[in-house]
Amino acid sequence: MLSWDDYDQDTQATAIDTVKPRAVNKQLAALQQELTHIHQSISVENNDVGKTESKENTSKPSFSQDLHKKAQEHLDQLNINTGLEELKLGGKRVQVDDKKMINCRADLNQLVPFKYDWAWQKYLDGCANHWMPQEINMTADVALWKNPTALSNDERIIVKRSLGFFATADSLVANNLVLGVYRYITNPECRQYLLRQAFEEAIHTHAYQYCIESLGMDEGEIFNMYREVPSVAKKAAWALQYTQSLADPNFKTGTPETDQQLLRNLIAFYCVMEGLFFYCGFTQILSMGRRNKMTGTAEQFQYILRDESMHVNFGIDVINQIKLENPHLWSETFQNEVIRMILEGTQLEIEYAEDTIKHGVLGMNANMMKEYLQFISNRRLAQLGLAEQNPGAQNPFPWMSEMIDLRKEKNFFETRVTEYQVGGSLSWD
Ligand SMILES: [Fe+2]
Ligand SMILES: [Fe+2]
Repeated sequence: MLSWDDYDQDTQATAIDTVKPRAVNKQLAALQQELTHIHQSISVENNDVGKTESKENTSKPSFSQDLHKKAQEHLDQLNINTGLEELKLGGKRVQVDDKKMINCRADLNQLVPFKYDWAWQKYLDGCANHWMPQEINMTADVALWKNPTALSNDERIIVKRSLGFFATADSLVANNLVLGVYRYITNPECRQYLLRQAFEEAIHTHAYQYCIESLGMDEGEIFNMYREVPSVAKKAAWALQYTQSLADPNFKTGTPETDQQLLRNLIAFYCVMEGLFFYCGFTQILSMGRRNKMTGTAEQFQYILRDESMHVNFGIDVINQIKLENPHLWSETFQNEVIRMILEGTQLEIEYAEDTIKHGVLGMNANMMKEYLQFISNRRLAQLGLAEQNPGAQNPFPWMSEMIDLRKEKNFFETRVTEYQVGGSLSWD
């Protein structure tokens, strides 16, 4: 291994030799003699080997020159007027008004000037909300899970189903973001948030894996639930159909049909997948935590819920901005289709609730959960500017709203950021 000490020793050795010219001359003469012998023996060997090898030897220098020539030729052909997006050398600088949410032709590599300050703010809030699953103590959960009498059978089903659904659901969301959505949202501050969200989805998958591993669950059973348990599989299959259309290599936005296809994907993932499909599981696990059961798992879910509520808000802002910039996409027919999508999602989540809450458990039953999901469904519709479809649905779990409440979220950020800056600062000691 190289070190500055070796370098000093080499330098010293050279310096000592220069003050002893006679010794150097002697050594040089000996070396020259040795080299002459070596050259002679190589030339004899080459003659013995024959013509083929001698051709190879002579071709080596020219081959290397050829590569240098080819590299230079390639550089000469480099066209600095093209890039991933359409760049023009010396073109006019990006102005705020040039920026658009979709089908934007302005340079996407220039983050500023910001057009959508809310997207940048959400990126900053997401970073301030950084957490890692290993920071949460799982000891009490492990003891409870391994005690055969500590949890009822219904409670165990809830924990398993939740981890089973979420362990793969966040991967579906992450894949949809990086393989589909990211390419078609043509705004750098929103892309910055999408990159942050993609990392958060990785943390969520990590958190579920961490819970599953800590509790010593059957990983095969949990990770395959989205293919083996109908109420979980239906939700995954419903969302996947919207990723498949966007991940098609021939898909391109820019026509009313394909722009609407992108909107369908955003609504499917932000409003239904993250905005509805997560809510039964979140409510069940958080209710468990409120009863002092599975508190580590519940804490992981609480952090995830805070991330998710920001994902949903970001997605709804993006959808509404696209509507604003492209009012022709938001036709009455399309609005009816969106309402139908939200109702389909609500129904699938109600079926999941009925499958996971067979009897009253943790202060909730299937009917209460149904009303809660209808209440959330109304909210999603209203956030998109559409008419509520579940008249009179009330929130039977007001404590859930408190957990998502923005004022509390802000407090969470303040305390969490302070803690993190102290506990997480880098130190070389
Ligand atoms: Fe997530
Ligand atoms: Fe998410």
